[in-house]
Amino acid sequence: MKKEDLKHGLEGVAVAISSISYVDGEKGKLVYRGFEIEDLVENSYFEEVAYLIWFGSLPNENEEDFIKSMLSKKRNLPENIVEMMRLFPENAHPMAVLRSVVSMLGMYSKEDNSTLENAINLTAKIPTIIAYWYRIKNNLPIIYPEEHLNHSENFLYMMFGELPEYSKCFDKALILHMEQGMNASTFASTVTSSTLSDIYSVITTAIGTLKGPLHGGANEKVLEMLEEIGDIEKVPEYIDNLIRNKKKIMGFGHRIYKTYDPRAKILKKWVQEISAHEKVDFFDIALKVEDVVVERFKDKNIYPNVDFYSGILYNHFGIPKEFFTTIFAMARIVGWTAHAMEYRKNNRIFRPRSIYNGPKDLKYKDMKGVEING
Ligand SMILES: CC(C)(COP(=O)(O)OP(=O)(O)OC[C@H]1O[C@@H](n2cnc3c(N)ncnc32)[C@H](O)[C@@H]1OP(=O)(O)O)[C@@H](O)C(=O)NCCC(=O)NCCS
Repeated sequence: MKKEDLKHGLEGVAVAISSISYVDGEKGKLVYRGFEIEDLVENSYFEEVAYLIWFGSLPNENEEDFIKSMLSKKRNLPENIVEMMRLFPENAHPMAVLRSVVSMLGMYSKEDNSTLENAINLTAKIPTIIAYWYRIKNNLPIIYPEEHLNHSENFLYMMFGELPEYSKCFDKALILHMEQGMNASTFASTVTSSTLSDIYSVITTAIGTLKGPLHGGANEKVLEMLEEIGDIEKVPEYIDNLIRNKKKIMGFGHRIYKTYDPRAKILKKWVQEISAHEKVDFFDIALKVEDVVVERFKDKNIYPNVDFYSGILYNHFGIPKEFFTTIFAMARIVGWTAHAMEYRKNNRIFRPRSIYNGPKDLKYKDMKGVEING
């Protein structure tokens, strides 16, 4: 293999055929199973869209009952796991906790578990892991899941004991994060699945990949940046300093979208609507950051991505920034599991190549430098 064969970061390489979602990076479109994301957030809620992504069509009434009941009955965690969580270091990052607890759940399951039923079970448990960790870490009593609440309401209830205003907006933000083609975490988890490994290993892989700041971890970094800027007047200098030092500006740019990310557009509109009624922290600074970054990078087509405005919204709900990426995972598990199962239907293990550029034909010497078999 030659250097010309290299596709750095697998840019432009197709690794699967999929009917789950379609991203048009030039027009800024995202489509789940044929439906535009704008229509789905307007008209559907988490359970319906999860059903759509897993099963390929929107649910009828019976199917809706089925998915709601599946997702609400499997929320509890084994008590042993909750006891173990109480022993975790109090400053453990929520993504590290989520990754570890999903892995632990794998010990409670038979190896042959890559079924849709198990995918749904795990999707039901992820909000519980996140909320329990929030309560344990803050020395608050755990709030157990409530079957009569829907997926996102139940999560907010387990976190805060009540439903914040705009909780519908939270549900819709989950829909926006549910699926996005062959992104890094979906690819990583599909690779794990392609070895016929179990679903807990698949999702542990995905969470570890999502955690990085170039992927889902960017939402936490965006809020850190906005806090650090602190004042709208300081935005141009702060951004120019990052550019001068060749640092990435978090929440901007995308491998596929070469125009405004449609998810960022929707999130920005919601934050704008909320801010018409009440103060939304950091929104003014964020708007200025967007103006400056888009202007400075006008030749490179760099625009806000999904992670730019999501954190401002979560912060407004009272969710601490280190939990932001877990919210992303809570939604994206639907896409991860859908892809893992779709790929299994025509499975082939992933095994790409690297191009060797190290030394060859070295003579083996012992520790004293004496050549052996020379
Ligand atoms: C998302 C991301 C990883 C995509 O990476 P990619 O497709 O490999 O794109 P590259 O990093 O090669 O960027 C292409 C060019 O745009 C620039 N660029 C892209 N995103 C940038 C950003 N956020 N800030 C500054 N420059 C950026 C790169 O420096 C590069 O410039 P060059 O051609 O002069 O070297 C990248 O845009 C990024 O790091 N963004 C910040 C992290 C983030 O928000 N991630 C969440 C993604 S949803």
